[in-house]
Amino acid sequence: MIHRMLFWCLSLGTFFYIQTVCSKKINFEKVYKSVMYASFLKAEFNYSSFLKRADHTAERYVPFQDTSNDTFFKVGILHKSQLENYTKIRMEDQLGSLKNKPWMPVNEIREEFANCALLKFGSFSEHDFKYDKGMYGWMNIMKFSCAFVDDQFLVFAMAFTRTRFRLKQVILKRQNAHWATSGRSLITRDVQKITEVFTIRFALFVNEKIEDEFRKHQISLKSVDENPMLLKNETFEELAVAYGRLRKHIKLSDSRGHTFSTLAFGIKSRIMMTSPSNAPQAIEAVSDELSDAPLKVLDTCHKDICTYDHMKNGTFNAKTETHTYAKENAFIHTVHPRYSVIAYQKSKPYFTFETMKRKTATGIIDIKQNLDTKAKNLWSSLLDQQFTLAIHVHNQELFPFDKFFMTLDPRN
Ligand SMILES: *[C@@H]1O[C@H](CO)[C@@H](O)[C@H](O)[C@H]1NC(C)=O
Ligand SMILES: *[C@@H]1O[C@H](CO)[C@@H](O)[C@H](O)[C@H]1NC(C)=O
Ligand SMILES: *[C@@H]1O[C@H](CO)[C@@H](O)[C@H](O)[C@H]1NC(C)=O
Ligand SMILES: *[C@@H]1O[C@H](CO)[C@@H](O)[C@H](O)[C@H]1NC(C)=O
Ligand SMILES: *[C@@H]1O[C@H](CO)[C@@H](O)[C@H](O)[C@H]1NC(C)=O
Repeated sequence: MIHRMLFWCLSLGTFFYIQTVCSKKINFEKVYKSVMYASFLKAEFNYSSFLKRADHTAERYVPFQDTSNDTFFKVGILHKSQLENYTKIRMEDQLGSLKNKPWMPVNEIREEFANCALLKFGSFSEHDFKYDKGMYGWMNIMKFSCAFVDDQFLVFAMAFTRTRFRLKQVILKRQNAHWATSGRSLITRDVQKITEVFTIRFALFVNEKIEDEFRKHQISLKSVDENPMLLKNETFEELAVAYGRLRKHIKLSDSRGHTFSTLAFGIKSRIMMTSPSNAPQAIEAVSDELSDAPLKVLDTCHKDICTYDHMKNGTFNAKTETHTYAKENAFIHTVHPRYSVIAYQKSKPYFTFETMKRKTATGIIDIKQNLDTKAKNLWSSLLDQQFTLAIHVHNQELFPFDKFFMTLDPRN
């Protein structure tokens, strides 16, 4: 089977300012046969090593009432010349009809294509968790990656899963003739179990899709390169220091101390690999995503490696009783003259404490929770764990040494 697609390209006659229209073909079969194609997809969209060490018992601890989801997955190829005028790319040619998926961020994906043009390789992922005791919970996960094959073809792939869930109501004390029920509040450990459940489902979904893709194009896994970007061990070591190992879930006894009625975080993680000379341009292209301090670290790094990691003190909105934070990290490592690896993560998480009711001799009173040291520590260890989870799950090829430790099970 020969897959070919015709697309139009414009070339500018530099002398006479005449635009001529030409046609070019992408030889899809050639791209599928390239080792780089298989290696890229395997490195970026094979979640087997995460699944091997994920906590598959998490589902048992979460009292789901119900869950519903929608998904999207796509692998595609663009010719380099299409990226020169990325606003002209017909997104429906690349993504297909999205009639039933109005939530697909088509313009953002187009911007990702533009970023890809500056890179050897790029990866972007998001873990968006929201829980509101009175309503629903949401966990949306997405990943987009791209890389050049043979300097001419940009291979990209993307996966989205969106889930809405409800937890079982809590039955309160019998009041008059009725049993009163209430939405369920969360402890930090619940958040960790819920994200684990949906991350596992995302991973299973993507693994199935990628296997279909390999089968469809008869791609052999035999010649797959484990380290397609040819990163050096030194880079893996620096990344391991900056981002740490996957963390265990918080112990139930520690987690129980504080309960939340609303809790949300949207963690964005981005990895870019470029030539050192293109790094400033690549950083400029994403400069609206970061605040000034981490941006400055990336932009003015004159050493082989510079890092940043900070969570801003929370602000409290007394009217909504919401505590809001901002957490960011950034990493740049340059292996002159071969490549620069740029990474960062960011989130603006928030929560409201649950107000507990206590019966006293004089009636029922509200017990408010305080943002004491214990609560602060609990909140920051939840975020640390979730940030680490997000980068390890979606960028496992950057932590090859961790993979070894994580799969080392003393029972085997
Ligand atoms: C890109 O498209 C715009 C708008 O149609 C056009 O003005 C511009 O000349 C194009 N640039 C290239 C490099 O083709
Ligand atoms: C979507 O829902 C179906 C049916 O409940 C389930 O089998 C599947 O695992 C879910 N997929 C994801 C990605 O959550
Ligand atoms: C994914 O990786 C596992 C081992 O880590 C391998 O057994 C499997 O064949 C891979 N699947 C694909 C489609 O690359
Ligand atoms: C990189 O590390 C791996 C695992 O420790 C080792 O097998 C390999 O030889 C190292 N490569 C180089 C170039 O040092
Ligand atoms: C942040 O909080 C810490 C401890 O609660 C305090 O020492 C520090 O001054 C605060 N920083 C800012 C910028 O408010």
